[in-house]
Amino acid sequence: MAAECRSRVPQPDPRPFLKPICPHGPVRFLMAALAFALPVAAGAQVQSVNPGINRYYEDPSLEQSLRMFEGEGREVFDRRNEIVAAVGLKPGMAVADIGAGTGLFTRLFATAVGGSGRVYAVDISPAFVRNIARIAQAENLRQVEAILGGDRDSRLPPAAVDVAFVCDTYHHFEYPQSMLASIHRSLRSGGMLVVIDYQRIPGVSSSWTLGHVRAGKETVIGEIEAAGFKLIEERRGLLKDNYFLRFRRLDG
Ligand SMILES: C[S@@+](CC[C@H](N)C(=O)[O-])C[C@H]1O[C@@H](n2cnc3c(N)ncnc32)[C@H](O)[C@@H]1O
Repeated sequence: MAAECRSRVPQPDPRPFLKPICPHGPVRFLMAALAFALPVAAGAQVQSVNPGINRYYEDPSLEQSLRMFEGEGREVFDRRNEIVAAVGLKPGMAVADIGAGTGLFTRLFATAVGGSGRVYAVDISPAFVRNIARIAQAENLRQVEAILGGDRDSRLPPAAVDVAFVCDTYHHFEYPQSMLASIHRSLRSGGMLVVIDYQRIPGVSSSWTLGHVRAGKETVIGEIEAAGFKLIEERRGLLKDNYFLRFRRLDG
């Protein structure tokens, strides 16, 4: 089933209006629900909730990805400065851009935290990580550290991060419980997790979104709170196609 879905969805996701639907939505969502529920008992997440969703990122075209992630008409690109302002970074802070992609937010965060801060740019795509490392070196952004993450582990240092930022990436986490546990470990006490992702509302959202994004906002909030976070803010009015949620890491 996954192979069929992959062959029908050859592009990454940032332009919903260009994307075909995966034809096996309901079956896939049932499998995703099982993949999320079963490991709770087992204590570790062993089954992907969305096999194949990151296939494109194994060897992405940088040129095409730049057009998709950093082109006018993509809501989070058009509203990038407002998003950065809403994240609320201060000079000297440490922020992790998890699923950094082409580095759109990494570069803006580097300015926001300044030379005394730290920006960890994490991605599972070696080409994206190499590209961000190259840009950081070329632009002398010594506060930026590019990290090749794993699909179950961000590989961030423990208790090092003030804000973890996950933009249009949560629905790409194949092992969300494991990723959330690793983000929890990387955050300092009282640290924040900001999640921006597509609104997925049956009857309202596009057919592409309904086929591609496995879970809606309420499910996502439930998963993240179950991983040791508390929702403290939903920023309404900032975005239309996406939601903006802020969670605080709970200690213990
Ligand atoms: C739709 S792109 C979003 C990129 C960027 N956040 C933006 O908004 O421009 C999703 C990104 O998440 C990355 N990704 C998927 N699963 C990941 C994981 N478990 N950890 C880190 N990055 C991941 C992909 O390689 C891809 O670069």
